[in-house]
Formats: sequence, C-alpha cells, structure tokens
Amino acid sequence: MTAITEPAPAKVNLGLTLGPLREDGRHRLVTVMQPVGLCDRVSAAPAPLGAGEDECLCEGVEGENLALAALRDFRAATGWDGAPVRLEIEKKIPVAAGMAGGSADAGAALRIAERLSGIEDDELVDSVAAGLGSDVPAQVWPTRYLATGAGDVLHALPEPAPFGVLVVPSRHRLSTPDVFREADRLGLARSGAEVEAREAELVGALAAGAAFPPEDLMENDLEPAAVSLLPELEWTLDEVRGAGALRAFVCGSGPTVIGLFDVLGSAVAAATALAGRDPRPVAVEPWYPSALGPGRR
Ligand code: C5P
Repeated sequence: MTAITEPAPAKVNLGLTLGPLREDGRHRLVTVMQPVGLCDRVSAAPAPLGAGEDECLCEGVEGENLALAALRDFRAATGWDGAPVRLEIEKKIPVAAGMAGGSADAGAALRIAERLSGIEDDELVDSVAAGLGSDVPAQVWPTRYLATGAGDVLHALPEPAPFGVLVVPSRHRLSTPDVFREADRLGLARSGAEVEAREAELVGALAAGAAFPPEDLMENDLEPAAVSLLPELEWTLDEVRGAGALRAFVCGSGPTVIGLFDVLGSAVAAATALAGRDPRPVAVEPWYPSALGPGRR
C-alpha cells in the first residue's frame, strides 16, 4: 500500500433554522452546508509491523478519533480485512468549533477506505457515515448541500460562484449538545410548519447557484444559545460586522464566527484588520469537489 492523502474541508453553515426536538433526542433543522477551503489533511499508510489494528495520529484531538471510528465501522459494514492502517491527520480546522472538523476527517477516512478496499458502494458508505454523526454524511462527498431532517438528510445544491468567507475561531470550545439544550431552554425552536416554509424558500432561492441564501434566511437560530453560553461572541460578531462583512453569524453550534463577503479579497482585508486576534482569523473561499480529482462519485 502506498501512502494516500485526502483533503478534509471544513464546512460553514450559511444560516440555520431550528425546528422541534424529535423523539430521537435530536432537533429538526434546515441549513445550507458549504464546504470551504480550510482543510485538514488525512493520510493513510501501512501501520507499523506488528500493529494488530488501525491507528490514528492526530495532534490536538483527545479521545477516540472519529476518523478511526470511520475505518472501524467501514470494516464492520463491508467485511473488508485489509492490513492495519495508520491514519495521520494534519489539523487546520479548529477543534470543537462548529466547523465539522472531526466529521470532515471521518469523511476523508471513508474515502480512503473506499480507495484502499476497492469497494465502491456509495449507499453503504453513506449509511456508515450517518451512524458516525449528523455532520458526517455531507463530508463523504463535500459539496454545497441543503441539510434537513436532523441535519443528515442531504439535498445537493448547485455549486455557488466564488465568494469570500472570514473564519474567526474562538479560544473557547462549545459542546454541540449543550448549545442545543440551551436553545431549548431559551425556547428558540420554530414550529414544523415554519421549518417547512423556510426549507421551500431556500430550495427555490438557491436552485440557480446564487452565492448566498436570501437575507432573512441567513440567520442562525442557534446563535442566541451560543451567545448565552459564551457572551463574548457578541463582541466578535460586532468586530466582524465592523470589518465590513455583509453578514456575520455564529457557525453551526459555534463558537466560530463567520463573516461573508462578495469576494475573497475583501475577506482577506478583514482578516488582516483582525490579525491581532488569537487565534488568528483566516479568509477562505468555497471549496469545490473537483479538488478530489476526476472519476470520484
Ligand atoms: O449527531 P451529532 O453526534 O453531531 O449530535 C450531537 C448532539 O447534538 C446530539 O446528541 C444532540 O444532543 C444534539 N443535536 C441535536 N439536533 C441535531 C443534531 C445534534 O439536538 N439535529
């Protein structure tokens, strides 16, 4: 086996509509998931001689790595018993930041497993991905999606024209379940009917590849919950607006804040203006699946 590498792009949510709590303990939601060019790199090489199982090296991530779990679940679902693999993950995506970094790594690990095993079964891989977490299915084949259900029902949307995104990570972490719980405590969920209406409006508005959803749908219903748990986010949002963003909001369950710009150059200028922040903001563009090379999916 020669070493292979897959990019694992972060995602941003261009708004998020929160719906009612479901019986499975997750919430109904509608969101536009946009991969951006802020990528971890996941490499696979043979595990050292004597290693009995797959292993994963990933600085900055404690506990079981979702990419390793992805390999384990892929082996279990397919019966593939190729030699143990060592995954090495170069982290660029902030951890626990609402940018689906762990899910991106898991999606890349599944693409690696497909390549190593020669098993081409999109449906099976998608079901393994769904078992790993709500954000993983969109990361197996990253492109712009409208995500519904609990965030795991995906509808691919036309790729947008380029635009600029300012990503402002936080020094703090927020736990996704905590943010959803806080949203319930604050009574932020919309009715099922409202969720459906907003979903229909989004599908129509983005059918022709517009860069951004309509302005009234570009808000994150989880934002007041994230701000309630981490009040300094309000300042960050003000800073990003002050740096010229067309829109600024908390990304997913936070605490990363993103700002949207018409062009990359404006996002770069804003990143320069806010360069004194720690961690340092970065400017990126949408990421397009053509980066994976021809002949994939
Ligand atoms: O699916 P995932 O593991 O990413 O979700 C983590 C937790 O976040 C869930 O157990 C649930 O508490 C919360 N969540 C939710 N509604 C969603 C997605 C996640 O309440 N749609």
